[in-house]
Amino acid sequence: MPHDFMPGLAGVPAATSSISDVDGQRGVLEYRGIRVETLCSKSSYLETAYLLLFGQLPSTTEFQRWVTDITHHRRIKFRIIDLLKSLPEQGHPMDALQAAVAALGMFYPGRNVKDVENNYWSAVRLIAKLPTIVAAWARLRHGDAPIMPRDDLGFSENFFYMLTESVVPLLWDEIFDDCLILHAEHTMNASTFTGLVTASTLADPYTVVASSIGALKGPLHGGANEEVVVMLQEIGTLDKARQYVEHVLQNKKKLMGFGHRVYKVKDPRATVLQELCRRLFKECGSSPLYEIALEVEAAAGTMLKGKDIYPNVDFYSGIIYDKMGIDVDLFTPLFAMSRVSGWLAHWLEQLRENKLFRPDQIYSGEHNRPYVPIDQR
Ligand code: ACO
Repeated sequence: MPHDFMPGLAGVPAATSSISDVDGQRGVLEYRGIRVETLCSKSSYLETAYLLLFGQLPSTTEFQRWVTDITHHRRIKFRIIDLLKSLPEQGHPMDALQAAVAALGMFYPGRNVKDVENNYWSAVRLIAKLPTIVAAWARLRHGDAPIMPRDDLGFSENFFYMLTESVVPLLWDEIFDDCLILHAEHTMNASTFTGLVTASTLADPYTVVASSIGALKGPLHGGANEEVVVMLQEIGTLDKARQYVEHVLQNKKKLMGFGHRVYKVKDPRATVLQELCRRLFKECGSSPLYEIALEVEAAAGTMLKGKDIYPNVDFYSGIIYDKMGIDVDLFTPLFAMSRVSGWLAHWLEQLRENKLFRPDQIYSGEHNRPYVPIDQR
């Protein structure tokens, strides 16, 4: 029976899920029914990750155990560090992260995905170790020794410590933790769908996450946060912003950090990120990139009027990371470090009622072609 073909599966449900929901007309994003803005003001990344994975906010005891388990699994094996050392330092950090995550699956038991206890520990390991891999790679490629995690530091605090060997101001931890919450989950996007397809084959979770990392890397998905900062740097000064937007749109190119398959209004995450920018700049001084970004948003607002194209999550996040001194090509790995909890929540959900993904296609080629011998072609 032929079905309507929807390029990019736009609007086609690929699963039923109770993990998150987006109302693209009203600009509302909820994780397990709780608005993302509420989680940013009241929760932490690790508590939000628990909520995503297990469906409920943890009790005090559950939360203590969760934090302890994550904290005690942050270290990575020396052989993973050796693997990172062997990669070309000019390579993209997303490729290094993908390789290291795939390699984790060779060290830890993950193949029996029917083992609920083992799945718990796989989730703990992945959430705990991704920041350590990202920080280790960031240092190794500049010739610096990786820094081991410190158990006395919180999740975000420890990440900065492993990156810079210093403990950053509390405000930075709070803002960074909110960034992690905002990036943790977003319904059936390209990387989550990729992970689900892999999960449906009953592959181990390290392979599932490695495949999602590959999909997140692309500039139409998570890679856009990097491209936004490059674009803002290229614009350079406030007075060139409008002209730049005009040029991009006249040449039928995409403005990076704008537009979304689901949101027809401004992405609520972009609004929260803008507020985080203001908090950070009040304390640490403004960023010329932010001023340019505001001008780009205003210009795009006029020039794209009526097209439902507004800033998405990738538009303001990079400006925050840039102000914190983080290298531009680490922005997408930071996204992965957070989104891993959403990917894993979907992995667990998929396993509960698994059906192998095997979509159909509409064949547009020929039939019954003769084979022409090579000397007669
Ligand atoms: N700049 C200018 N025009 C745009 C943009 C943009 N950023 N996004 C969409 N449009 C226009 C298209 O040119 C097209 O116009 P047309 O109908 O006149 O030809 C129309 O809007 C529809 O665009 P599509 O690309 O078909 O819409 P889709 O739903 O596939 O796009 C996407 C979603 C891929 C995110 C797109 O908006 C885009 O490429 N944005 C830039 C990259 C980006 O920021 N990606 C991050 C998304 S958030 C995330 O993944 C975490």
